[in-house]
Amino acid sequence: MAKKKMTVLDFQKFKDEGKKFSFVTAYDYTTASIINDSDVEVILVGDSLGMIMLGYDSTVPVTLEDVIHHAKPVVKGAPDTFIIGDMPFGTYNVSIEDAIRNANKLVKETGVDCIKLEGGVEMADTIRALVKAGINVMGHIGMTPQTATSFGGFKVQGGTPESARKLIEDAKALQEAGAFSIVVECVPSVVAEAMQKEVRVPILGIGAGPHVDCQVLVTQDLLGMYGDFKPKFVKHFANIREEMVKGLNLFHEESASGAFPTPEYSFNKAVEIPSVYGPGDTSK
Ligand code: KIV
Repeated sequence: MAKKKMTVLDFQKFKDEGKKFSFVTAYDYTTASIINDSDVEVILVGDSLGMIMLGYDSTVPVTLEDVIHHAKPVVKGAPDTFIIGDMPFGTYNVSIEDAIRNANKLVKETGVDCIKLEGGVEMADTIRALVKAGINVMGHIGMTPQTATSFGGFKVQGGTPESARKLIEDAKALQEAGAFSIVVECVPSVVAEAMQKEVRVPILGIGAGPHVDCQVLVTQDLLGMYGDFKPKFVKHFANIREEMVKGLNLFHEESASGAFPTPEYSFNKAVEIPSVYGPGDTSK
């Protein structure tokens, strides 16, 4: 049975009812349709596509056009799943007008249900303006990959009493600005737990421990497909990379040996092919 697509209001309802949910990434039609067949409620077309799909070593070079290009097939493939479109670096830090223009473009051209952007209290005015313009906004704080160089790389955030308090105040500022939910990435479990309690909107955790409203992982990480590195917080729930290599090697072996294709995988209609030399021609 098809699942019922979540709405923005359901995010809050789930938190209020203590019902945990999950979200994962997708960047293409086939993966989106597989997730749509699963129980996972939410898909993010994340700027992590820069690493996972395009082979970059960070999310910074990803463009709005990249996200639009990947979001269109995801929206097609997952009609029963709530879909988030990520705002890439440089698309919302120039001016509020520019942020609204780019968010409008992302929503209008793809049909995503909301946008997500990174940053704490410094993004509150932008979020307020986006929400006023009618755009659903998800925040993202903690280890924010687009600005990771400013804190020395992909490192756990909120590890001191002051930085933990600052993160919780950031979450409150985003909530007050109108963000309907907040991703918190790579923080100690106790910090995410305190945030989950102090903040009314749902806290969506990636590398943030168990005491959050929703668990987030990159699909290619959780299925064991991405081979470049594995962050500590990633659990492999399957080993699809291994399975794919096994399948490819079997195809290679059977192609080389002639075991594939058998008649089952061939078109076996008998066709009488006229000779190019004509009937009775024996000159060949
Ligand atoms: O782009 C992405 O995959 C993300 C998740 C890490 C939340 O922003």
